[in-house]
Amino acid sequence: MTPIEISRLAAQQPDNRALDPAFYTSEAVYRQDIERIFMRCWLYAGHISEIPRVGDWFLYELDRESVIVIRAAKDRVNALVNVCRHRGSRVCVEPKGRGKRLTCRYHGWTYDAEGALKAAAHMPEDLDRDALGLRQVQCEVLAGMIYLNFAEDPAPLAEAQRELGACLAPYALDQAKVAHRQSYPMKANWKLAVENYCECYHCAPAHPEYSRGHALADPDEKHEAAYARVHERAVACGLSPAQPDRKYLDAPGFGAGYGYSRYPLIRGHVTGSRDGQPVAPLLGRITDYFGGCTDFEVGPVTFALAYPDHVVIYAFKPLDRDHADCDIPWLVRGDAEEGEDYDAAALTWLWDVTTEADKRIIERNAQGVNSRFYVPGPLSDMEYYTLAFLQWYLDVMSRTEGPEGAGASPSLGVVAS
Ligand SMILES: [Fe+2]
Repeated sequence: MTPIEISRLAAQQPDNRALDPAFYTSEAVYRQDIERIFMRCWLYAGHISEIPRVGDWFLYELDRESVIVIRAAKDRVNALVNVCRHRGSRVCVEPKGRGKRLTCRYHGWTYDAEGALKAAAHMPEDLDRDALGLRQVQCEVLAGMIYLNFAEDPAPLAEAQRELGACLAPYALDQAKVAHRQSYPMKANWKLAVENYCECYHCAPAHPEYSRGHALADPDEKHEAAYARVHERAVACGLSPAQPDRKYLDAPGFGAGYGYSRYPLIRGHVTGSRDGQPVAPLLGRITDYFGGCTDFEVGPVTFALAYPDHVVIYAFKPLDRDHADCDIPWLVRGDAEEGEDYDAAALTWLWDVTTEADKRIIERNAQGVNSRFYVPGPLSDMEYYTLAFLQWYLDVMSRTEGPEGAGASPSLGVVAS
């Protein structure tokens, strides 16, 4: 399929249906997913606590790209493209490291944390070193979370920084730490993983552990009064009165959308754990458990669930057409001690068991959509957010204008609602 054919197919999709199989099985669609979405939207790369000292770095990899995310100064993170300016070798090969200098092992070209070329042996005296620094991609730290964008001129995160940043301030996530981080690779196209995350229609059948304590799993628990009560108690416990809910569709710029909303925990649960009881000290300036939790998101593929005592981030990305990853860091207070203040196994239990279940159902879904007999079916009311994601996706894919005929036009700055 050509990009134009993909755009036509996207434009022809009926409303309120699962996607045509080509969107999961075509290699050409996958390449367009990378170009139109992943090279243009904000992506979660890691948390600031993972690079606490100047010179600490880790690699973020997506598709054919690799980025060195490095603490360049106390208050600055750089995202250096991991491609040597000599003949293009990867410079860093380990998943993480530390050093004032980054040396390519191929011919020894050496860069500093700003990406400046500092050494290149046996090269002419007049080598223009200034022109041979490592290239950089956009990098922003929002509430301690490091987001990257591969686009040269991405939609700014300024509005998310301001509005979502203010909502998240009581959690003090910039002073949190990653207590545990786990990757959940799955044999499925990335869209099936995101579609699944966006709905709780499957929660009751697939997630008994989650459904015991979270109102979202049970439409009967979605009483307005319960939501109002949680909101009131959350504010009394120091949380934001504002809830900029669900900006997916009217994003302030392509791939820079965000949202923040609360929902009740039920049956005596106060956090997301095996028995619903605390698993870590209260975060930041939160004064007490308020009987609820907070969903938030940045960009189209990073979601998070903030409990009063810990935060779970779900960062999705494609590995190839048929494989995706969900990278899950669990954040707790920066000064919490493992073994004293929290137990990693207890902290991670709920979302490990839940994500393992998700992986299984997503992989079965992938098997089905790869069948010649698959026909896209209708969605339920409980899949409203999956529908929002699908509409957004089809809108992006249906665009044919722009310099490459690949949707890369400034009009993408406003995503249709
Ligand atoms: Fe699930």
